[in-house]
Amino acid sequence: MEDVLARTENLENFSPGDFFKLGWETLDGKTAFFAPYFRGMVDDNWIMREALGPASHRMPFRDSRTGETREVLMLGSNNYLGLANEPSIVERTIEAVRAFGIGCGGPPLLNGTTTVHRALERKLAEMKKCEDAVVFASGYQANVGWTTGLLGQGDFLVYDAQNHASLFDGIKMGRFEAVPWEHNNVDELRRRLMHVRWKHPYTNVVVAVEGVYSMDGDVAPLPEVVALARKYGALVAVDDAHGTGVLGERGHGTPEHFGLEGDIDIVMGTFSKTFAVTGGFVAGKREMVDYLRFFARSYMFSANLPTPVAASVLAGIDFLGRHPERVRALHENVRSFVAGMRAAGFTVEAQTAIVPLFVPSHLRVRDLVGALFREGVFVNGVEFPAVPRDRQRLRISLMATFTKEDLDLAVAAFVKVGRQFGMLP
Ligand SMILES: Cc1ncc(COP(=O)(O)O)c(C=O)c1O
Repeated sequence: MEDVLARTENLENFSPGDFFKLGWETLDGKTAFFAPYFRGMVDDNWIMREALGPASHRMPFRDSRTGETREVLMLGSNNYLGLANEPSIVERTIEAVRAFGIGCGGPPLLNGTTTVHRALERKLAEMKKCEDAVVFASGYQANVGWTTGLLGQGDFLVYDAQNHASLFDGIKMGRFEAVPWEHNNVDELRRRLMHVRWKHPYTNVVVAVEGVYSMDGDVAPLPEVVALARKYGALVAVDDAHGTGVLGERGHGTPEHFGLEGDIDIVMGTFSKTFAVTGGFVAGKREMVDYLRFFARSYMFSANLPTPVAASVLAGIDFLGRHPERVRALHENVRSFVAGMRAAGFTVEAQTAIVPLFVPSHLRVRDLVGALFREGVFVNGVEFPAVPRDRQRLRISLMATFTKEDLDLAVAAFVKVGRQFGMLP
């Protein structure tokens, strides 16, 4: 602890990971100590940059340090298909406000369900080739809800170690046993499943993966995972937050991409990425969905999605049905950006819309993020302790609505900043 305290003299070398190691006698002491660190992150344009206009591929932001307005290319949004500002979706959302008001003021089992919510649940079930779906107020709540609601004492969740924080929080809150396996390593999954089955031949086991992993944008080896789960009598849960709208010819997600639609027992997704609003869902067998309506506390004890938000997701799914070319445009943009970055000398790879650019550990990711912002590119950085120090990166995400000119400008900004920081010769 003394070592940590000595280093805190220079807050630049301090990270939230160090903060947790400190013991605190008072809450005031803890929050006052953290305050300058947090302020520094805001002033560095590292977190909480304020947008001054609608979410789009180009948008205005306030520079927290200077107060100036900056027009930036948005390479830090999960609005992959550009639906946040799609006129037909905005129009249907406004119509829903006129027809239903802004919300219901209650949880779904009481007064919080409208025909729009039910229509959305049916549409999601159809899209994911499941019997029914239940909508949650957020994707976070959906993950916490299905894990804690479905799995009880003695049940097992065998999960990929790179699953999202919301699954980890479900694990913390739940009473079931949780067994991690190394990211995307199917041999290790096999060993874990053998072990669990050998010791617990009759217990319920669920294998949890993400379709597309949120940090690296890599895809789960779903066919192998499904085959192993079947072999060992386990169910499969897929969090397709970053796969929906991105993978599959029609953008229906990772199961569509692998021809496994209808073969996944628990399909979870969010509305906070491709649909660019908030909310989440779990789709599966009708009995399971109804069971969750009663036993997922994050569903039962939380107000339902505002009706206009449910309407905007419905409109988004309709849009996706009419415009599969948006999904193709996204992939074309990813290909073109990756080719441009490689030609410039960067080492990048992308399987989906997320392109990680690893940053050598002697550099501060936030310095790069700030420099790119000044060059007109908004990008998010991920540093320790969210990832190991040697895996710190810029998490670049692309959108279908970028033009060729946008992408050329973006690559030029990366080249300029990359040279400035010695990442390129
Ligand atoms: C893989 C994954 N699952 C779940 C969530 C939570 O979704 P939401 O933002 O809708 O709460 C996220 C969001 O970051 C995510 O990336």
